Amino acid sequence: MSKKKILITGAAGFIGSNFVRMLITHPEQQYDIIALDALTYAGNLKNLAEFEGKSGYSFVKADICDESVINELIQECDIVVNFAAESHVDRSIMGSEPFVRTNIEGTRVLLDACKQHGIDRYHQVSTDEVYGTLGKTGFFTETTPLAPNSPYSASKAGADLLVRAYHETFGFPATITRCSNNYGCWHFPEKLIPLFVTNLIDNKKVPVYGDGMQVRDWLHVTDHCKAILCVIENANDGSIYNVGGNNEQYNIDITKMILKHLNKDDSYIEHVTDRLGHDRRYAIDASKIKNDLGWEPIVNFEQGLAETIEWYLNNESWWRKIKSGEYMKFYEQYYGNR
Ligand code: NAD
Ligand code: TYD
Repeated sequence: MSKKKILITGAAGFIGSNFVRMLITHPEQQYDIIALDALTYAGNLKNLAEFEGKSGYSFVKADICDESVINELIQECDIVVNFAAESHVDRSIMGSEPFVRTNIEGTRVLLDACKQHGIDRYHQVSTDEVYGTLGKTGFFTETTPLAPNSPYSASKAGADLLVRAYHETFGFPATITRCSNNYGCWHFPEKLIPLFVTNLIDNKKVPVYGDGMQVRDWLHVTDHCKAILCVIENANDGSIYNVGGNNEQYNIDITKMILKHLNKDDSYIEHVTDRLGHDRRYAIDASKIKNDLGWEPIVNFEQGLAETIEWYLNNESWWRKIKSGEYMKFYEQYYGNR
């Protein structure tokens, strides 16, 4: 039986490249993979370098907003999984245009191409941030109303609503996962964990927003990738699943865990002006995916975090190249006067 062909958009980013790795290293590799990425500041071909030349794998540099390229590629695909996005909340506060373009219009282009060519499954990789913020108690379930607070989360919510509407209107075979914060290897060093680890390796302070008492539910990226595959392969058309680690942590506590691992004291913490519209707490109720599909997180947080920090210690050339380039302009502009 011939293998199914899967188009993975945003494949050169953090989660997309981990997803490609999971599929390719599976003992019974069941998919032929087209990895697509526009290679924005966040896309990095080094994340995929180990797969170059492997049979059943190819890379295409393309923008998901480019209708003609997307139409041509999707003609030959059975499954599309969309990771491509502008993904950083702080950048969306500085300017929302690329977020609306890629996250909403890009999703629309993919949906129309998939609808036209009658694919088997379209999967939208979404985020728990579409639900907005929680108080001290409670959890996001799949029926929590969408109430995004940042331009990033608003653009992701817009995409989710389009995907939902294509299912309702056309019976389009789509699924959506809404996951909590991921951590792990190949995470772009603008996000909390890799930014703090790499700053500390360089003996630089770490910028904690406000009081650092915001809560995120952290999940290892490999657990997220398994959840996505599980939904693609087993979920009903039109279904939505929350994915989380049942692992709520205060930002300040994560900061202290990283400091401890790298033998640094609290003098490296710098409380800076809080993020505008900063969501206070995210917490996922992932019981639906557990009950329906049997997915559960496996990686223990302390161990996963320790391994992640070690990866950054052992892969300095990967992140030093990123931190010495264009990215530093953003860093100076965003953190310069806080
Ligand atoms: P990332 O920023 O590391 O990767 C995004 C990738 O998309 C990059 O490689 C970039 O080059 C590519 N891209 C951007 N615009 C594109 C375009 N127009 N056409 C083609 N490619 C384009 O992000 P990530 O952390 O890997 O997130 C992947 C997906 O998962 C996103 O949709 C994000 O919203 C979602 N998500 C992320 C997290 C998290 O904690 N990182 C949690 C939940 C959901
Ligand atoms: P981030 O990694 O940007 O993910 P998200 O905003 O999608 O949750 O941030 C995680 C948390 O860490 C969030 O509460 C913001 C906070 N944070 C800081 O305190 N300092 C920083 O420099 C960054 C990047 C994030």
